[in-house]
Amino acid sequence: YRGGLLLGIDTSCDDTAAAVVKDGREILSSAVASQVEVHRPFGGVVPEIASRRHLVAILPVIRRALDEAGIAPQDLDGVAATYGPGLVGSLLVGFMAGKALALAIDRPFVGVDHLEGHASSIWLARPALDQPAVVLVASGGHTELLYVRRPGRFESLGGTRDDAAGEAFDKVGRLLGLGYPAGPAVDRLSERGRPDAVRLPRGLSEVDTLDLSFSGLKTAASRYMLPAVRDGRLSLEDAAASLQEAIVDVLVDRLMRAAERTGARVVAATGGVAANRGLRRALSRAAQERALDLILPEPALCTDNGAMIAAAGHFRLLDEGPSDTALAVDPSARI
Ligand code: KG4
Ligand code: ZN
Repeated sequence: YRGGLLLGIDTSCDDTAAAVVKDGREILSSAVASQVEVHRPFGGVVPEIASRRHLVAILPVIRRALDEAGIAPQDLDGVAATYGPGLVGSLLVGFMAGKALALAIDRPFVGVDHLEGHASSIWLARPALDQPAVVLVASGGHTELLYVRRPGRFESLGGTRDDAAGEAFDKVGRLLGLGYPAGPAVDRLSERGRPDAVRLPRGLSEVDTLDLSFSGLKTAASRYMLPAVRDGRLSLEDAAASLQEAIVDVLVDRLMRAAERTGARVVAATGGVAANRGLRRALSRAAQERALDLILPEPALCTDNGAMIAAAGHFRLLDEGPSDTALAVDPSARI
């Protein structure tokens, strides 16, 4: 493999995604089948349902990615698929489909770490980038800080010790009656609320660490904020804005700390939570104050997609060649 067209597949959670990317930096197509409506009534992703839906969606989604790129399977130079972390039944569907396709067209196959994939969206958002960067990946499933020395070289700097940032939005939002996933609703309500209405804890802010914690926030919100909303002493808008500010403060603080510690001049945020308008504003401000170069991929590149997996796969293939044929899915993979 010396570059070219790579098909990237991700089925780590509840989205079936496939995309064609050229040389790890140019998106030719990106297809995503979302399952959010199927899981909504359950208030979260139901693993058994997710894997069944992936089975139904995987071939049509791959076909759509190829069609939109205007190519046949034989035009591909390789196939990349997520091997972990994620839900085992979900991972298996995309991983096995990718492996089988690579075998059928006799091209290299590479397994990709899902977080490495998220971080690799920086080269899709900024193809010319070649400096080291610190990337915050914040979604419903993960909250991690990664140092990216160069394409394909990732180190974990820290991560959440309990809930993911998206989980904090979703769990407290659910208590507030905002449905699932609650993040976008909190974002919307916050625009009309006072962020200083309630002071919620900022986990690990006094500690010299690049780890994060959101469990204290969740407890405080359910103990003090919820009763106030129920009594009518606190508006839903003020509650949402206070919650959002607490989460955003922690995310911005930790990303800026990571930039300071590593000396990186480029910072980025991705994952579903990076769609949050309050977070995007706060990051822009913080980066500007420190003269840091901020990369905020467009929302469709922040949420799970196949293009980020193809980008990560491209650099892995160049560095290390194809994956061992014995590589299996790993639900608890770590960078
Ligand atoms: O990356 P993603 O689509 O899926 C994974 O979890 O992998 O992220 C979904 C998470 C959910 O927790 C959702 O509430 C949150 O991202 N989210 C947001 C916003 N949009 C999505 N959280 C806050 N503000 C938003 N605008
Ligand atoms: Zn993800």
